[in-house]
Amino acid sequence: MNDSIYRTKMRSNLCSELSKDFINREVSVCGWVNKRRDHGKLIFIDLRDFSGIVQIVLDPKYNMGAYTEGKKVRNEYVIQAAGKVRKRSDETINPSIKTGDIEIIISDTRILSESKTPPFMLEHSERVDENTRLKYRYIDLRTEKMQKSLRLRSKINEVTREFFSLNGFVEIETPILAKSTPEGARDFLVPSRINPGKFYALPQSPQLFKQILMFSGFDRVYQIARCFRDEDLRADRQPEFTQIDLEMTFVEVGDVINIIEGLFENIFKKVINKKIETPFKRISWNESMENYGTDKPDTRYGLKINDITGIFSKSGLKIFNKVIDSGGFIKCIVVPEYNKLARKDLDGLVDIAKSAGAEGLVWIKVNDDGSMQSPIAKFLSDNEKKALINTLSLKENNIILLVAGDFKTSCGVLGDLRVHLAKKMGLTKKGDYEIVWVYDFPLFEWDEKEKRLSPVHHPFTSPDSKSIKILEKEPLKARSLAYDIIINGQEIGGGSIRINSASLQQRIFKLLNINKKTVKENFGFLIEALSYGAPPHGGIALGMDRLVMILSGLDTIRDVIAFPKTQSGAGLLTGSPSDVKKEQLDEVFIKTIAEEED
Ligand code: AMO
Repeated sequence: MNDSIYRTKMRSNLCSELSKDFINREVSVCGWVNKRRDHGKLIFIDLRDFSGIVQIVLDPKYNMGAYTEGKKVRNEYVIQAAGKVRKRSDETINPSIKTGDIEIIISDTRILSESKTPPFMLEHSERVDENTRLKYRYIDLRTEKMQKSLRLRSKINEVTREFFSLNGFVEIETPILAKSTPEGARDFLVPSRINPGKFYALPQSPQLFKQILMFSGFDRVYQIARCFRDEDLRADRQPEFTQIDLEMTFVEVGDVINIIEGLFENIFKKVINKKIETPFKRISWNESMENYGTDKPDTRYGLKINDITGIFSKSGLKIFNKVIDSGGFIKCIVVPEYNKLARKDLDGLVDIAKSAGAEGLVWIKVNDDGSMQSPIAKFLSDNEKKALINTLSLKENNIILLVAGDFKTSCGVLGDLRVHLAKKMGLTKKGDYEIVWVYDFPLFEWDEKEKRLSPVHHPFTSPDSKSIKILEKEPLKARSLAYDIIINGQEIGGGSIRINSASLQQRIFKLLNINKKTVKENFGFLIEALSYGAPPHGGIALGMDRLVMILSGLDTIRDVIAFPKTQSGAGLLTGSPSDVKKEQLDEVFIKTIAEEED
């Protein structure tokens, strides 16, 4: 039998390494007291380390010293125990744990560390308020769920590094104390003590550094990079997060896509033992918006969006006429087996539609006899009904949900409803993965608040060759060489072929209404670098936290980060962010508002 790689001076084995093969062998184990049962004459302890649990038995007749020490232990005490492995009697075998058919009869126990009564029992952690779990994170991290997700994360890191190394990538770190590179969020700023009044920005991503490494001749670089964005937090967003970030020289879109598909094949196979089919599905941005109402399509289920504007061209319904006359659309999804939805579920849909921007939601039910029931039934002509049945292949028990509005609203609202209904109706299965590339994005979108164009990805994304000619004339028609990778409706990564010409980069800044002075101050170094031989290049960044979350089957990235922040940006374990001493602020030339008012 091989020695355990976990053998140390204090222990011979991990708890769950022990088995019937060890019967009559002297072993030593270390860990936390998971549970202690004092039967008076005998004490049983479930001893736990990360590998699992083993039962140890303290018997005064076997060893009085060990038994006396064992009497003192409580839950979550850390102990070392040595003794002999023995078979459990048939009636005490516990099939629910790996070591359930053996136990260790103890000849020596040592308390290594005591524990106060823990704020929660590990087995109840799922029911414990998340803030308590985050405050006592060291206890929460002892749970099987957290151990598993962080170990899975470590495995993804390992497979990623191995894959990139085999494919000629160089791992290069880039600065954390950096200069602002816009990725659409606010920067976290760090004051510079030795440059009074000046600030570093924590990187929102290593975007410009990795591009510059391409100009420097490294050909292929990657980084498992920490990124910082001061934005509103959600289940899939943290202010600091990790990207698998790469950049390659002399590539077209397909080359980057091939590399990522290879990486995913490796990660899925080696981390969760799942073979995934490549190439992944590719959906153009237009197709995605039209069919799924989003650029993050979940293709695991149907409920696709249909355009039925044509059917209502002569509608008797004023609201439809108004929308169509102003260039809008009537779109719908067909829900099979609506009888699975309760009345209150249907009412809930209207609220969702309204909060997603719709004026309202119209439903039409198809009864068992083929007749249609709807609040707008009396406005539906026979022709319209027939056209609906034919176009949408309607059957009894279908319900049509209709939204009228401009393209963005009608598709967006139905896209939200689609996701909601899929959850309600249980249309997805844990362990199913649908991976798609979305490509052919618009280069710009119109920012109504700022009244200017804004990049759909970032300003360094290359337009496609046809669009370069129309940039100034019809910027909103320009398409980019960007691609996003989506798993089960979640954006896992995004990238693009980049601009490698100083003059094109300057045209883009101009279109984005960034004045010359700001371009010089913020991006002067990039324009300069682009002027000394910048090869064609492209890359992508994958959200590591989201990838781990999906592969672990968890619902929030907080569960795959050892020490995450809460929704309000607090680090509850250490109590960050916190006040700092006045002297510290003085050193970096910062005055608080309170001081100013004094
Ligand atoms: P992008 O901004 O799309 O692209 O980010 C890439 C991926 O990072 C993840 N992500 C986040 N994960 C957790 N918390 C956040 N706050 C957060 N923000 C983003 C997402 C996202 O798809 N420089 C470009 C990449 C490139 O062009 O190469 C960039 O950062 O999964």
